[in-house]
Parts: sequence; C-alpha cells; structure tokens
Amino acid sequence: MFIFSITGALALAAPAFAALGRPILFSDGLSPHVDASFWAHLNPTQSTVSQWDWGYTPQQTCFNNANSNGVSPYDFEIFAVKYTDCGNAWVFCRHHNAALSQIDMIDLFGRLPVHERQWVRHVIAVPGGGSAYMSNADVVFQGPVGTPSVFQHEVGHAVDFYKNSVRSSGTSKFLNAIQQDSCVPDNYANSNEVEDYTQVGVLSMYEIVTPGGLDTLNANWRCFINQKHALDDFQRDNMTPGGSCTRRWADDVKVKMGPAVPRQKRAPIEEASGLPVPGPSYVAPHVHKNLVFNATEQLKAKERQAAWQKGDAATA
Ligand SMILES: *[C@@H]1O[C@H](CO)[C@@H](O)[C@H](O)[C@H]1NC(C)=O
Repeated sequence: MFIFSITGALALAAPAFAALGRPILFSDGLSPHVDASFWAHLNPTQSTVSQWDWGYTPQQTCFNNANSNGVSPYDFEIFAVKYTDCGNAWVFCRHHNAALSQIDMIDLFGRLPVHERQWVRHVIAVPGGGSAYMSNADVVFQGPVGTPSVFQHEVGHAVDFYKNSVRSSGTSKFLNAIQQDSCVPDNYANSNEVEDYTQVGVLSMYEIVTPGGLDTLNANWRCFINQKHALDDFQRDNMTPGGSCTRRWADDVKVKMGPAVPRQKRAPIEEASGLPVPGPSYVAPHVHKNLVFNATEQLKAKERQAAWQKGDAATA
C-alpha cells in the first residue's frame, strides 16, 4: 500500500511557511564564505559505480521528477554508487543533459558525513537554471549547483524532516531560537524556518570541518548562536564525518522508463528488504546564487573515481 502514498506524495502542495523578516549576516549568500573550506576539508568517500543498462526500470521517483521537470524519463542514466562506509548502494538518476556529471554527483554526495547521507533515498540531477529541492527524502539538483554547500543544504533538509520524530525546524525550540537571535545567515534563510534551519546547518558543518571554526568567517556569527545551539542539539551527532551508515531507506519502487522499454527487461539489482519507506515531504526549489565552484577538485574527483573503479584503493 505504501506505493500509493509515495506516488501521491508529489501531489501534496508545498506547506505555506512564513518569511522570517530578520536581519541577515551575509548579503551574498553562504557559498563565497564556506565552500573553499568545504572543498578542502570535506573529504571524498571512496566509492565504485555500476551503471544500469538503458531501459531498465528507474525508480518511480526518477520517473516522477523527470515529469515534474519537463524532461523525458527515457533520457536518464541510472547508476548505483557503493560507498565504502555503507553496505547498501545508493541509486542515482541523472538526465544526460544535467549540468552535474555523474562524478560531480558521486563526489559531492560522498563528501557529506555518512550519518547525514543515510537520511537520503535517491540523488537526482536534471537540467535547470541553478536550483535544487528535496522531496520525499530525495535530493534533486537542477542545473549548475555542484558545490558542497548546496549538497549540504539539500541533504540537510532530509536530516531536518526525518532524523527526529518531528521536523526539527518546526519545533518551538528552534522557532524561539530565531526570535532570541539578532540575525539569520542570509536572505535564503529568511525565506522561512525550514530554509533558515538548513542554512544554519551549512554553517554548523563549516564549524565542524574548518580549523579555527566559525571565527574564521570574520563575521559576527554569534548573532545566530541560539539557532546554532538548537540545530546542534537536534542533529550535530549526525554531522560528524566518519563511521558507517546505521540506517537506510528502502529504494523507491521500480517502474519502466516507458512503453518503449522491452517487456523482458528487468531491473538489475535486488533491493535490500525490510528497510523503512520515507513519509512524504517537499521543500520547493530555490535558486542558489554566487556559487563557488572548484575545477581543480572536479578534476581530482575524476581521477580518483577512475582509480577506485579499477580497484586501486590506495588512491585518495
Ligand atoms: C579548491 O579546492 C582546494 C582544495 O583542494 C582549495 O585549496 C582551494 O581553495 C579551492 N578553490 C576554490 C576556488 O574554492
């Protein structure tokens, strides 16, 4: 029966969250302040990839997100990524014209701590103007948004919605913290408490991985300290790099890409059984501005992946 609740989930309207109207710390967004450190200090996780043959059934969610993005499900690459820190692979879907390459997706997702990644079901990339969203524990990247801060932000939504029994950003503890503080991180955070929580999460991640912590931002970051403390209480235990996965979602149900797929085609990978199915959630796409990309790291990721694929475990 859960099949119906999953397919129905996309039809849910976005909840109407109120704009916060708070003073902001950074007027140019977070990427110019955090991504150079993330590129340097969020280390990639070793992985190997296996491609699904074309026509094999992608997950229902890839099909749904293709349709909602106005692109054809036939044009997707489906691939399973097995990171060394989790027994089950993650199934990714990528439209062949997406700005993010397969390696961009694998590298950026793999840089995040596994205890955050384990709240995400599928990773999806489609063409677009530079935005991203989270829906039903899937993270969807539209266009050129290949930076660690964007991945942390979208994966952070899944942690917010699913890690605790209620959405952490909607608790009175977090809402009161917003009122006690004199700022939110940036304009994006001012959209509503959901975006604010997740932007605070990006800065909390910065603190965790950056030598010298938030003081190296050269900004009055203590203006959001109550929000940061609240977020840390809710999820900092899942934001520390290292360890291995302690939970996973079941993969979404498999469907054919469409009627052109031959009848005899079958999905190549058996699903692990007994894993939970995420309840519905939806955070609307938001444009990410002023992103700091890193061509050097992109190139290194390509070389790393090629070595790992050949079984050269020594390359890091
Ligand atoms: C790119 O990543 C390297 C770490 O490999 C870092 O030292 C450098 O500052 C980054 N460049 C940019 C533009 O973020």
